[in-house]
Amino acid sequence: MKNKEHLRFITPSYMKLFSFRQRYLINFFTHVLVFGFGFVIGIPLTFYLYETLSINFQIQRILLPSYGPNSKFSPPLLPYPQIISTTINDSTSNISSMTNHKRVITNSKSRKGLSDFLKPPRAMHDMSEEELLWRASMVPKINHPPFNHTPKVAFMFLTKGPLLSAPLWERFFKGNKGLYSIYVHSLPSFSGTVLPSSVFHGRRIPSKEVKWGENNMVKAERCLLANALLHFSNQRFVLLSESCIPLFNFSTIYTYLINSTKNFIEAYDMPDKVGRGRYNPKMKPLVRLSQWRKGSQWFQIDRELAVEIVSDKLYFPVFKKYCNGKCYSDEHYIPTLVNIKFWKRNSKRTMTWVDWSKGGPQPSRYNGKDVTSDFLKHIRSRRTCEYNGHTTNICYLFARKFTSDALDRLLSFASNIMQFN
Ligand SMILES: *[C@@H]1O[C@H](CO)[C@@H](O)[C@H](O)[C@H]1NC(C)=O
Ligand SMILES: *[C@@H]1O[C@H](CO)[C@@H](O)[C@H](O)[C@H]1NC(C)=O
Ligand SMILES: *[C@@H]1O[C@H](CO)[C@@H](O)[C@H](O)[C@H]1NC(C)=O
Ligand SMILES: *[C@@H]1O[C@H](CO)[C@@H](O)[C@H](O)[C@H]1NC(C)=O
Repeated sequence: MKNKEHLRFITPSYMKLFSFRQRYLINFFTHVLVFGFGFVIGIPLTFYLYETLSINFQIQRILLPSYGPNSKFSPPLLPYPQIISTTINDSTSNISSMTNHKRVITNSKSRKGLSDFLKPPRAMHDMSEEELLWRASMVPKINHPPFNHTPKVAFMFLTKGPLLSAPLWERFFKGNKGLYSIYVHSLPSFSGTVLPSSVFHGRRIPSKEVKWGENNMVKAERCLLANALLHFSNQRFVLLSESCIPLFNFSTIYTYLINSTKNFIEAYDMPDKVGRGRYNPKMKPLVRLSQWRKGSQWFQIDRELAVEIVSDKLYFPVFKKYCNGKCYSDEHYIPTLVNIKFWKRNSKRTMTWVDWSKGGPQPSRYNGKDVTSDFLKHIRSRRTCEYNGHTTNICYLFARKFTSDALDRLLSFASNIMQFN
């Protein structure tokens, strides 16, 4: 009995001790388990939250109106909010006259919608080259815009000084407002003025020195493209020189370019010294001799390719380094780039006629006496070529090397041969 008593006495305390130890151990292991579990879940969760929050944070930085003037995240697609009210009378900016833009712009007084984005930006600006190219390289990921818009053709003039056939171009553009944009890149030293009534008024873009055949000629072309890309409605891009003339009326040229399924970049392989001879083997392996192409710099391209050219950070630096001076990069950079990466939609021909038949480093120039109706008819339908899968005899829309001396004759043929209205 005593024993039993004893047992009864000690059993519970032993049991207590045992259960205390057990509980302690169980507690301990539970803590370890909970901690370990939390640790395993916590690490990925922390990374996830960190990423989500920092994205939110960046979105907020982009959306917040209080960005500073130098903010890296200032909204890229709102061109020049501070000068928009003063550019309404810009020569090509009658947005309200363009069909469905009315919906966005004039429906309600308080609604601004996309109006800032759709308004053509001013030609002159103070962006650095780096800033300009970056902004021009933006592409909307949604293909179809939520409004109708009339596509425009950007006519980009790369000139030294004045445009030799300006009055002919004025007649060409007359009555076609809203269907074109004009950009002029002339030498910084050129100080000629343009009458406010002219289509060229206020269309000069910031420019740098350009020498024939040198690499900065390509820079100027990229700069013209980038400026023209800033305006969303520009869908085709035409590079022209000061001696270029249009060979057809506006409606013919507009339809031809806007409806084309191809780009017009001349690109051919020339085995002799002015072709392959200009290739620098140091460009290997990025550019191989078999990929090297030559072609006229005067192109007609669509927006997709224009964006690719201004965004190219791979080939351009190599050309800058290894294709200078007598290499004439303006005749090789774009043809070679297109031949390597964008050949599928290239027609390999240019729409700008020029006469090399007399040989030499420069093509023939045309003065007043050279311009006859037969001559113009001849170059307008000189040969046949392919257009959107059909054969056509309209192979050249523009022609090159017309002096100011040819202007009067050209104007006299504008109505009956070129059919300007
Ligand atoms: C805008 O241009 C029109 C003609 O195109 C002119 O009548 C009008 O006065 C101009 N408005 C301003 C604010 O310059
Ligand atoms: C702008 O378009 C409107 C039609 O929406 C037209 O009445 C007006 O004359 C145009 N202004 C200019 C300067 O072309
Ligand atoms: C393009 O071609 C189609 C027919 O293929 C035509 O309906 C359309 O009007 C053309 N576009 C322009 C801008 O002329
Ligand atoms: C433009 O020229 C074509 C012929 O090339 C002609 O059929 C058309 O009527 C002309 N357009 C205008 C607006 O004069």
